[in-house]
Amino acid sequence: MNACSRTIVARMDSPVALIPQLAAHIVAAGGKRLRPLLTLAAARMCGYAGGERHVRLAACVEFIHTATLLHDDVVDESRLRRGMASANAVFDNKAPVLVGDFMFTRAFQLMIEDGSLHVLRILCDAAATIAEGEVLQLVTQHDLTTTEERYLDVVRGKTAALFSAAAQVGAVVAGRPVTEEDALASYGHNLGIAFQLVDDALDYAADEAVLGKSVGDDFREGKITLPVLIAYQKGNGDERRFWRRTLEEGEHNEQDLAHAMQLLVQHAAIDETLSRAASFVHEAQLALGVFPPSALRQALADVASYTIKRVH
Ligand code: IPE
Ligand code: IPE
Ligand code: MG
Ligand code: MG
Repeated sequence: MNACSRTIVARMDSPVALIPQLAAHIVAAGGKRLRPLLTLAAARMCGYAGGERHVRLAACVEFIHTATLLHDDVVDESRLRRGMASANAVFDNKAPVLVGDFMFTRAFQLMIEDGSLHVLRILCDAAATIAEGEVLQLVTQHDLTTTEERYLDVVRGKTAALFSAAAQVGAVVAGRPVTEEDALASYGHNLGIAFQLVDDALDYAADEAVLGKSVGDDFREGKITLPVLIAYQKGNGDERRFWRRTLEEGEHNEQDLAHAMQLLVQHAAIDETLSRAASFVHEAQLALGVFPPSALRQALADVASYTIKRVH
């Protein structure tokens, strides 16, 4: 992980000073580095010991993730990221969009340096799928007729694809058979879905200071997430009118977020979202069954469990 951090810092550099300046703002703010951890742990579990490919690809994965966060905060108009003012809050919208593009292209350079077309395909497919997920989300925004399946399509795209690719490339660098690649892809995919379900629960239920992001962003943005879908389905006429006014029509007053939170509690929507996440975590852990027991397999299983216990 330290080597991965050094690669990230080295590759943020550019003679155009605003690039490292803005990149340092989001990178110095921290981040859990969960996706590169998956790449490194998967590679090691698969017996990779031949060099630095896993480090470079882990950095590449974090670059893709960071680029999506820069863009996502512009699109979501989010003011807080990793406990600090978001890049768009500090630099306005244009610079984060462009530096996000720079980070994407840095990621592609790292893939090219790796030299494997197979790795290139996995990570490029993931990058395209993330963008599709974010666009699909834009289309389902403000639309309470969105089904759970369509919501899950968004989640699979915007979040699970990168978790999946991050884990899968660990098997690729180690030269493991396709069954093991698939197992790690499935582990990452299910973990990614769980991760986003928890994120969507935390968006209503977290302590903002601990979360490091604004609570209620999804509500203000009219995002149709699982907690809301559950409460809407169980809601009476008045409640449904409330959700339509706030999420579909975007008409908000000061008490609305508190009322939304109260409805989610009343219908156990947060608990239900978390228990759905737990079943995806279980699926992720089952996928690890093709590997023999090892400390690293246990670590990957523990990362999955952590996902549903996390508070930020
Ligand atoms: C945030 O991801 C975006 C989502 C998929 C919810 P993380 O929660 O992994 O963000 P950092 O990197 O730790 O800040
Ligand atoms: C995840 O969605 C964003 C990406 C995977 C690009 P969110 O919009 O829920 O992420 P946060 O809550 O802003 O981190
Ligand atoms: Mg967002
Ligand atoms: Mg979120």
